[in-house]
Amino acid sequence: RILRWAWRLTYLSAIAGMVYVGVGIYEAKHPDDQPDPDPSKKTLVILGTGWGSVSLLKKLDTENYNVVVISPRNYFLFTPLLPSCTTGTIEHRSIMEPVRNFLRHKKAAVKFYEAEATKIDYEKRVVYINDDSEIKGDMSQTVVPFDMLVVGVGAENATFGIPGVREHGLFLKEVGDAQAIRKRIMDCCETATFKDQSQDEIKRLLHMVVVGGGPTGVEFAGELQDFFQEDLRKWIPDIAGNFHVTLVEALPNVLPMFSKNLIEYTEKTFKEETISIRTKTMVKNVTDKYIEAESTKPDGSKVLEKIPYGLLVWATGNALRPVVKDLMMQIPAQKDSRRGLAVNEYLVVKGTENVWAVGDCAIANYAPTAQVASQEGAFLARLFNQMAKTEEIETQLLHLSDEQGKVPNGEPRNKIFADIKELQKRLRRVKQMGPFEYSHQGSLAYIGSEKAVADISWMTGNLASGGQLTYLFWRSAYLSMCFSTRNRVLVVMDWIKAKIFGRDVSRE
Ligand code: FAD
Ligand code: NAI
Repeated sequence: RILRWAWRLTYLSAIAGMVYVGVGIYEAKHPDDQPDPDPSKKTLVILGTGWGSVSLLKKLDTENYNVVVISPRNYFLFTPLLPSCTTGTIEHRSIMEPVRNFLRHKKAAVKFYEAEATKIDYEKRVVYINDDSEIKGDMSQTVVPFDMLVVGVGAENATFGIPGVREHGLFLKEVGDAQAIRKRIMDCCETATFKDQSQDEIKRLLHMVVVGGGPTGVEFAGELQDFFQEDLRKWIPDIAGNFHVTLVEALPNVLPMFSKNLIEYTEKTFKEETISIRTKTMVKNVTDKYIEAESTKPDGSKVLEKIPYGLLVWATGNALRPVVKDLMMQIPAQKDSRRGLAVNEYLVVKGTENVWAVGDCAIANYAPTAQVASQEGAFLARLFNQMAKTEEIETQLLHLSDEQGKVPNGEPRNKIFADIKELQKRLRRVKQMGPFEYSHQGSLAYIGSEKAVADISWMTGNLASGGQLTYLFWRSAYLSMCFSTRNRVLVVMDWIKAKIFGRDVSRE
């Protein structure tokens, strides 16, 4: 009997799953007809198509504004699964969602320009944009005026001016970075097996160095070691004794934002996976074949050493984009801000009235994470929807007050009076919007060999867990957070494909 019920439940879940996928596919293919943008309305320019901007666009009622989106990337990228693309566990297109797909579903049309904002002129209220793609038309630079501006351009990779990083290291922020890493891993492996390669050169080529023990570095190191254990050593047995991953971190431990026991768990797991962790080691210089790092010994003495590498992945956090730096210089209230655009509790850029900032380029006392950026974007959507409603009610009120003076005393006048009262009540309700409050759901990171660590906010406390169950939780949490049904289906298919056939080791 229990078996029969279990079978029915499975059957029902499968049907529900198919309906869910079906509705997702139908909605993606058949958007409603959209009215054109209305230039008589205020122009809201949104920069970027990352976590902050896309979360704003998702919830924004585009009928209220003349919305223009500008970004050099015509897709949204689900960054939490980007480390998996470096080894082919997931194909990069599975975590990309073209902005055109979801903009077509908005109530009113949104203009999208694939371009980089090169300068924001705050006084003139214009953004200078430049089409930096390979194909350029007669027009590749222009100016876009705005009434309201949202800056959601994210951040670039920090190098702290260390020589050689940009020339020889690879970053892990964009799709192109993941593709470059994947190609380089395979190139190192194939070159290491070239005829008569010397032992020292084989060792160097197969030494994979990751600088930065934050979550990007840790997740990448874990993925790379998995790739070696599960696939590379089977397909290219010659490299088995020499392939080695080293994680270099300047601080005394990795993952500083996680609780102490999870840091210890991660370090223990890396040891079991034979990933070397070099803490208290600061990279000072990078050449094409080795890095120079200064490590602090237990007695406090410092030693400078050369560490040869084949692949160098540089993951030492965020730095300001030039367009953000330039905007900060135009606004006197931003002069003391160093790490990004200082914003108030409504995410308005301090010193301005009509510029807001979200995500990694804004400094609102939260860590630069996707979680923060998406909550900020959703908050701005609510704020803008509310501002539009407020304006609409205020216009109606102005009109009714005018009417009230024109009609004689008695029934019609009383009716207008009652309408005004009702509208004033609505206006008070609409205006009741509190400031932005971030709700921390927790931190998750994959650490390799099908294990993950999680610091989850639970009731009033914190739940710290690590291991294989946490890994299942990590997978389901990120799957549910993927942008669309299409992304979810593709990611699941990639996971299954990698499990059955192994990862693809072609160099392209
Ligand atoms: P982004 O998402 O970086 O988007 C910026 C957008 O601006 C992009 O579309 C870009 O093309 C565009 N842009 C850039 N320059 C310009 C310009 N000049 N003009 C116009 N547009 C421009 N956070 C988590 O919470 N959980 C995770 O698991 C997690 N994993 C991560 C894994 C990796 C590998 C990385 C790199 C980051 C991860 N993060 C994670 C952090 C998270 O991705 C960022 O905090 C988040 O992307 C910030 O969102 P954003 O909108 O500010 O910027
Ligand atoms: P990070 O800023 O978190 O960590 C960078 C690390 O590099 C620091 O620990 C720093 O001490 C180290 N470092 C800096 N210079 C160095 C040097 N010269 N030599 C050696 N070590 C050096 O950067 P990361 O990991 O790129 O993350 C950026 C943001 O994205 C963070 O806010 C992070 O929380 C978020 N993120 C979150 C993820 C998750 O929740 N799973 C995954 C990836 C990123």
